[in-house]
Amino acid sequence: MRIVQMSDIHVGSGLFDPGLLSAAIEETNALEPDLVAVAGDLTMEGYRWEFDEAREYLDRLTCPSVLYAMGNHDAKNVGYRHFEDVFGLRERSMIVPVPEGEAKVVALDSTKPDLDEGEVGREHYAWLDREFRGWDRGPRILIVHHHILAVPGTGRDVNNLRDAGDVMAILREVGVDMVLSGHRHVPYVWSISGIRVVHSGTVSTYRIRGTMPPSYNVVELGPEKVTITLKEPGKGEEPLASFAREPAKTSEFYPAFERYVRYDELPF
Ligand SMILES: [Fe+2]
Ligand SMILES: [Fe+2]
Repeated sequence: MRIVQMSDIHVGSGLFDPGLLSAAIEETNALEPDLVAVAGDLTMEGYRWEFDEAREYLDRLTCPSVLYAMGNHDAKNVGYRHFEDVFGLRERSMIVPVPEGEAKVVALDSTKPDLDEGEVGREHYAWLDREFRGWDRGPRILIVHHHILAVPGTGRDVNNLRDAGDVMAILREVGVDMVLSGHRHVPYVWSISGIRVVHSGTVSTYRIRGTMPPSYNVVELGPEKVTITLKEPGKGEEPLASFAREPAKTSEFYPAFERYVRYDELPF
C-alpha cells in the first residue's frame, strides 16, 4: 500500500507558496498512491475563501481515496462549518482497496474552536474502538492533526493532543498500525508499542522550524518492510524512516485496559 501524507497547507498564510503545493500535487499524481491523507491545517484562519482555494488545488488530485482531517487553524473563526461544506464530514472512516486487501482509514477531528492544542475526547473513544477493533482485512490507519507523541526540533511543546495517553492506549488495544499527523511542521517518525506514528512537515509554506524544508511524506507499506520517504516539493527526496512490516512486540503490559480508560456512553 502506498500513502501520500501531506499537511499544513495553510492557504491564506503570507508564507504560503502555491508553487510548492502544485508541485506536491503533480508528484503525488505521478506516484499513483492508494491513499492521500491530508492531515489538517488546510487554511490559516478558517475563512471560507481559504477552504475554497484549498479545494481548488486538492481537486487536482487524481487518487480515488483522499481523506481530510481538520487542523486547529481550520477551527479558527468557526471554520469547522466551512470545512464541512467544502470537504465533508469532519470525522469519517473509509475502506480503501489496497494490493493486500482493504485498509480501514479513520479521520478524527481533534480540534477545539480557537485553541491550538487538541483533544480527541472521551465521547469519541467508543466510535474509534468500533472502527478498528477486529479489522483483519488490511492496515488500520488513523489520521489526526495533533501530535500524540512529542516531535523533536520543534521548541517548547504546549499544543499536543491533551488526551494523548488515553488515545495511545486505545490505539494499542485495538491494534492500529499507523497514525498520520501534522501540526508541528517538522517530519518525524516514532515506532512504539506496535504503532507507527508518522508526522508530516508543512507541504506548502515557509512556516518551517529549524533545518526542515517544506515537505510531505510517502509511506510504502510492503509485505516485508515499511519505508517512509521525505519529499521536498519540486526538489528531491531523502529517506525518513524504515521498519520491518511486523513491528517488534517483545514487551508485554499486564494491567487491564479498562483500569486506564473508560468510554463515555452517550444516550444516542
Ligand atoms: Fe500547521
Ligand atoms: Fe496545526
